[in-house]
Amino acid sequence: MEGTNSLVVVGAQWGDEGKGKVIDFLAAGADVVARFQGGDNAGHTVVYGANVFKLHHIPSGILNPGCISLLGSGMVINPLVLLDELDELEKRGISTSGLRISGKAHLILAYHQIYDRVNEELLGDNKIGTTGRGIGPAYADKALRRGLRAIDLADIDGFRERLAQILPLQNRLLKNAYDHEGYDLEQLVEMYRLACERLSPLVVDTARLLSESLAEGKKVLFEGAQGTLLDIDHGTYPFVTSSSTVAAAAGSGSGLGPRCTSRVLGVLKAYTTRVGEGPFPTENQGEAGDLLRDQGGEYGTTTGRPRRCGWFDAVIARYAARINGLSGLAVTKLDVLSGLETVNMAVAYECEGAVTGEFPSSMSELKRCKPVYENFPGWYEDVSRARTMADLPDAARQYLEAMEEAVGVPVELVSVGPDRTQTIIRPHTYLAGWCGD
Ligand code: GDP
Ligand code: IMO
Ligand code: MG
Repeated sequence: MEGTNSLVVVGAQWGDEGKGKVIDFLAAGADVVARFQGGDNAGHTVVYGANVFKLHHIPSGILNPGCISLLGSGMVINPLVLLDELDELEKRGISTSGLRISGKAHLILAYHQIYDRVNEELLGDNKIGTTGRGIGPAYADKALRRGLRAIDLADIDGFRERLAQILPLQNRLLKNAYDHEGYDLEQLVEMYRLACERLSPLVVDTARLLSESLAEGKKVLFEGAQGTLLDIDHGTYPFVTSSSTVAAAAGSGSGLGPRCTSRVLGVLKAYTTRVGEGPFPTENQGEAGDLLRDQGGEYGTTTGRPRRCGWFDAVIARYAARINGLSGLAVTKLDVLSGLETVNMAVAYECEGAVTGEFPSSMSELKRCKPVYENFPGWYEDVSRARTMADLPDAARQYLEAMEEAVGVPVELVSVGPDRTQTIIRPHTYLAGWCGD
């Protein structure tokens, strides 16, 4: 059957769940890793030994030699940032020869970052707290049918021609609404000349490549960016990103049908974090939140902002399981909880006297929701050297079991540290098969 050799990996909270680490680990057994949405707002960290890589556009499979890395049509790409990313990897001895870009992916250009910044300034206290990378404006221009695409990088004259069609409108907006002097056509062409030269050879029909790879029985990983609650439709709108971050987008964002996979792994931290604004029921602004931030090193990979921290929220995880059709869970950062006397988990919300296990669609309702906690005994042992479930203290295993029960999806992978090697794969699971066990 189509898609039995493929796995979609998505964030099941508000992003930064450790997708980069999980993808890098699973990529050892993959032939192709494809991103299908988002842009350089993503910050995916991969650690092995003393090496730390922070990837923004490039799939975390790039660190596995022989793995083809694709930037799919659902992405928005900043060509200048991508060049820097490529140079940085090459400088550090990582071959980027396996990278391919969909011609249908849209480009983030200089004016998108201006729009992003000014939009946020004008929103004042109601700002989204974006990464400032121009993501929203680039997706808006795509929907308004005035975007440039990676295919337009194919030759500089074509790039100039397409930009010339669009720039008068952009300049009018920049000058009249955004207090900016606007751009000269040739100035922009020069800004992107090198990117056209260097990136155009990488632009191919990635959808066909993927389809052929699946037909040949190759193993394909789809790497989600952001997380379910940042999804433009199903997230905490308007405090979301501008793309579809959920598993169903893996097909549409890479040019495949919904049967491209039957397996969806949801990555979850053993607690919850969020960067940017918006409601967050289990947020803890006291000692517990500070402890999670300190022990978990919770600072944004892309912007360096301190992440807001709180307890694990099973209401969110259940919602993510339903929206994505999760078949398995990857629980990360279990090590961060070591040393706590009690570990809390929100199992329901209380809203004006009523208790609900459902995640509300209305943000004003979500703001009024108070978490209903179940308390679990903590553990003091350092779990970072655990490599099997049996190596974990009883209390940690019981906490994972409670998570499984609350979410209704089996835990297939547990991460106990940032390094590739600090990973437990549950035997007799799909992932165990994926890893060749
Ligand atoms: P992503 O955006 O989902 O890929 O996640 P980020 O890379 O933005 O943030 C996750 C952070 O946690 C990174 O610094 C990772 O190196 C780190 N990390 C991932 N898994 C673990 C883990 O199990 N334990 C610890 N302590 N750190 C982890
Ligand atoms: P990864 O892939 C965490 C958040 C921003 C902001 C909102 C909108 O590393 O998990 P945007 O710049 O996308 O318009 O910002 O989304 N955000 C992320 N938060 N991890 C990310 O990516 C994020 N990408 C965007 O902080 O709240
Ligand atoms: Mg991140």
